[in-house]
Amino acid sequence: MSAPGLFITFEGGEGAGKTTQINLLAKALTDAGHKVVTTREPGGTIEAEKIRNLLVQRDGGAWSPMAECLLLFAARVMHVKKVIQPALEEGQIVICDRFTDSTRAYQGYGRGMALDKIEEINAATLGGFGPDLTFVFDINPEAGLSRSSRRLAAESLDLKQTEDRFENMDIAFHEKLRQGFLEIAKNEPERCHVIDANGTVEKIAAEIEKTTLGTLK
Ligand SMILES: Nc1ncnc2c1ncn2[C@@H]1O[C@H](COP(=O)(O)OP(=O)(O)O)[C@@H](O)[C@H]1O
Ligand SMILES: [Mg+2]
Repeated sequence: MSAPGLFITFEGGEGAGKTTQINLLAKALTDAGHKVVTTREPGGTIEAEKIRNLLVQRDGGAWSPMAECLLLFAARVMHVKKVIQPALEEGQIVICDRFTDSTRAYQGYGRGMALDKIEEINAATLGGFGPDLTFVFDINPEAGLSRSSRRLAAESLDLKQTEDRFENMDIAFHEKLRQGFLEIAKNEPERCHVIDANGTVEKIAAEIEKTTLGTLK
C-alpha cells in the first residue's frame, strides 16, 4: 500500500511538545512549497471524532484495553481511508499527532494488552499500513505533565475537565508509556527517531526539519 506522499507521525508522552513541533514542521514544509495535511488521532474524520468522544467521556463506563483498542482501530480505519490515504495518493505530506504507536504504548505497554494481539488487529484492519517516518518525543513524565498542566492553566482549563483520560494517572503508568515508546523506537530504528524533548523548541524544530528533508530526498 505504498503511496507517493510521505506519512509522518509524532508520538510520545503528554506535554512533550508534539503539537508545538507539528505546527512548526507543517509551516516549514508549506513554506518550502510542499502540500501538507495535519491531523490527529483518535479523530481526524467525523466518524473517528465520534469514537474519540466515546473514549474520552468521563461517564462513558470503563473500556477494557481490548475494547479500547478495537475502538481506536475502528476510528483509524476511517481516518486512513478518508483522509490519510487519499492525501498520500495525491503526493501530499501527512503529519499525524499520534497513530498506532500510541495504541501500542497505551493499550499495550501501559494497560497490559498483549502486543501480538494489537499487531493482529493492525494487520486485519489496516494491512499493517503505517507511517514512513515517526518522531518519538522522549521526556521525563513529571516534566511533561507539568508542562501540559501549565499549558492548561494558561488556557484556564481544569485538568480534570480535559479530554485526556491518561493525564491524571500516576507517574508509574506514564513511566511504562515512556519505556514502551522507547522500545517501539528501538525495534524500528529506520522509521523511528527519538527526540530528546528537553531541548529548546528551536533546536528540536531544526532536528525534525533536517530529518524530514533527508527522508524526502
Ligand atoms: N521544547 C520545549 N521546551 C519547553 N516548553 C515546551 C517545549 N515544547 C513545547 N513546550 C510547551 O509545553 C507545553 C506542551 O506542549 P505541546 O506541544 O502541547 O505538547 P504535546 O502536544 O506533546 O502534549 C506547551 O505549553 C508548550 O508551549
Ligand atoms: Mg498535543
